[in-house]
Amino acid sequence: MKYIIANWKANKNIDQVKDWIDLFLKNDFNRIKNKIQIIICPPFPFIYLLKKMIVETGHAPSLPIKIGAQDLSQFESGTYTGEVTAKTLSGLINYVIIGHSERRKHFNENTKALFEKFVLAKKNRIEPLFCIRNEKDPLPLQIKFVVYEPVYAISNGTGQGNNEPLEKVLRIRKILKLANSVQFIYGGSVNDENATYYLKAGEIDGVLVGGASLNPDKFYKIVSCV
Ligand code: PGA
Repeated sequence: MKYIIANWKANKNIDQVKDWIDLFLKNDFNRIKNKIQIIICPPFPFIYLLKKMIVETGHAPSLPIKIGAQDLSQFESGTYTGEVTAKTLSGLINYVIIGHSERRKHFNENTKALFEKFVLAKKNRIEPLFCIRNEKDPLPLQIKFVVYEPVYAISNGTGQGNNEPLEKVLRIRKILKLANSVQFIYGGSVNDENATYYLKAGEIDGVLVGGASLNPDKFYKIVSCV
């Protein structure tokens, strides 16, 4: 099973989201549905809309698509204006990205805050996709998904950048000494031209796709390359 995760970051409005999902769902998922798990992580306001549009196809259970969030609050609930908590998201999403380098950089998220988010996600039955920038970033206990994203490999939104050579990605997996049950995901300028290069490696369990996931055709090419 390979996990193909779309991270839309701070992009798209409601009409663009409707167009994206309309086009994406026109594709055939039968050949690949037992080999992949697609996880779409839109901005918060579009989570429910995506879920609804997938259910309205009438064959949601046979589609290999789940919804995730790009972040959640480090607080459980209460007087935290503007925060979106794990409790709020519970029942709406299956996965959440935690610790993306853009959050560490622009919002000063530190290990303590990230571990608190991790615990709250788990408590609310949301599986964290925990991002690290290198082998030095600490990993929480009970981790199931490690997303390795070297900062220099992340594109400026185009999906085209300095993607990391496969040997280096595999070396990081070795250094981390992950249990076999842990899924190891690579992210950083993955696109429809290089996705196979990573996904063919048995040690890589999936890819996190930013820029190239914004276009439904490009994203379908990535998910169908397995
Ligand atoms: P990118 O983004 O695919 O545009 O490099 C990946 C990410 O930061 O999640």
